[in-house]
Amino acid sequence: MVVAIDGPAGSGKSTIAELLAERLKLDGGRRFIYINSGNLYRAITLACQRRGVDVLDKDGVVRVARSVRLECGGGAVFLDGVDVSALLHGDGIDSAVSQLSSNVPVRHIVNALIKEMAVQRDVVVEGRDMTTVVFPDAEVRFYLDASEDARARRRFEQGTSSLGIEEIRLSIAERDIMDKNKPEGSLRVADGVTYIDTSYLTINEVYDKLEEIIRLKG
Ligand code: DC
Repeated sequence: MVVAIDGPAGSGKSTIAELLAERLKLDGGRRFIYINSGNLYRAITLACQRRGVDVLDKDGVVRVARSVRLECGGGAVFLDGVDVSALLHGDGIDSAVSQLSSNVPVRHIVNALIKEMAVQRDVVVEGRDMTTVVFPDAEVRFYLDASEDARARRRFEQGTSSLGIEEIRLSIAERDIMDKNKPEGSLRVADGVTYIDTSYLTINEVYDKLEEIIRLKG
């Protein structure tokens, strides 16, 4: 079974997807694996920074994306066998990743990798184009949304940014514009998805809503 979740930065989708993969069991005790597609773009951004490749150098970025080994497991991301999860959410990656993820050949590499990870497995997968491009036929598809203010507050409270809340809000707004205007894989609400505004909901409230729908469909 594929549970696909899309939404903008800070909509709560990573937390929810990880919780679902941790807690949800299907018939026969089958467990979900969790795939955070944004972290794959972030790990490629990190690899580019380490190799001195500018994210605007389209061919250079594609070469890096082709040459790295990316794996996901237990909520962590491994770049060439090393867990880099803790390095993926700083301001340096935040400011470059959107640009990198608009590189179409890189998107194809990431999408192929995700599809390969999902073969014959139960997965919760989240990002910007999981419900539209990568798994348009997933059994369950959600779009999680939240206001800009709510998303900026959540990011600020995570404590991984050195920016003030207003600067975070501006960077989120800029990222939204890029994410919604990509040549391929733009963030949009697909026909037939379940849309949930999480601005005034707790994580547990969102979790309960999604779990109920997954159980009904699954
Ligand atoms: O979900 P996130 O904020 O960690 O994603 C990082 C960046 O990657 C963000 O700018 C959007 C982009 N992204 C994408 O274009 N497609 C995806 N499926 C996931 C993320």
